[in-house]
Amino acid sequence: MRRDSPERQVQRFADLDSLSQAAAAKVQELATTAVKQRGRFTLVLSGGSTPRRLYEKLAAAPFASSMPWQQIFIFFGDERCVPADHPESNYGMAHNFMLGKLSLATEQVLRMRGELDPQVAANEYERRLRDFFVVQNSQPPSFDLILLGMGADGHTASLFPDSAALHEQQRWVVSVPAPETMAVRWRLTLTLPLINRARCVLFLLSGKKKGEVARALFNQPREAAKRYPAARVQPEGQLLWYVDATI
Ligand code: 6PG
Repeated sequence: MRRDSPERQVQRFADLDSLSQAAAAKVQELATTAVKQRGRFTLVLSGGSTPRRLYEKLAAAPFASSMPWQQIFIFFGDERCVPADHPESNYGMAHNFMLGKLSLATEQVLRMRGELDPQVAANEYERRLRDFFVVQNSQPPSFDLILLGMGADGHTASLFPDSAALHEQQRWVVSVPAPETMAVRWRLTLTLPLINRARCVLFLLSGKKKGEVARALFNQPREAAKRYPAARVQPEGQLLWYVDATI
């Protein structure tokens, strides 16, 4: 394990299953601490395929009963602009692998409504966040844990290379066009000002196609930040990278 500082860590695992097991233990550790200190745990889920194994583990023994689920609030880092039951929906994936297996109250899961007009959905989600965190000043709130993935192009959430959204300084949630290669053309995403207020960000990376960008990011972070959105995730709190042996 390479340790840049207590707040910045890269941990390598043999495979996706052991990576996901360690990630589940980390989620539980942070949830337990947050509930003890603040009475609740605010968790932002990532989309894509990598976190599926983690979500399955969190919804199964021992985590299904050992986690303080009644004090946990679930949010989304990004969403594709499709209905919740669409195969490309991040909410739909999280529901199938985890949320549908847990008995959380409706108000514990704040879904981005991908079925709405993108701009309307972004404005609505930001308003819901402002209501949830009862924001006094303009400073964005701090999520306890934000889970993120990274694409082979260095995107994270739905912050894509060269996107105008990377320069957003005011909004917490924006709608963005995805690259033409993506199945769904419009997306919703949290912005960097909000992501970087997190107490902890945990990246989960699996798949050798991400190795080149990941190594650039670990070894020349400042240089990487010019090209790769994932390198611009520099949270006030902990930044953890859990990577498998292909990275
Ligand atoms: C999404 C995710 C996205 C994802 C990466 C990695 O909506 O797709 O938020 O940022 O984390 O594209 O995806 P994989 O885990 O499928 O490689």
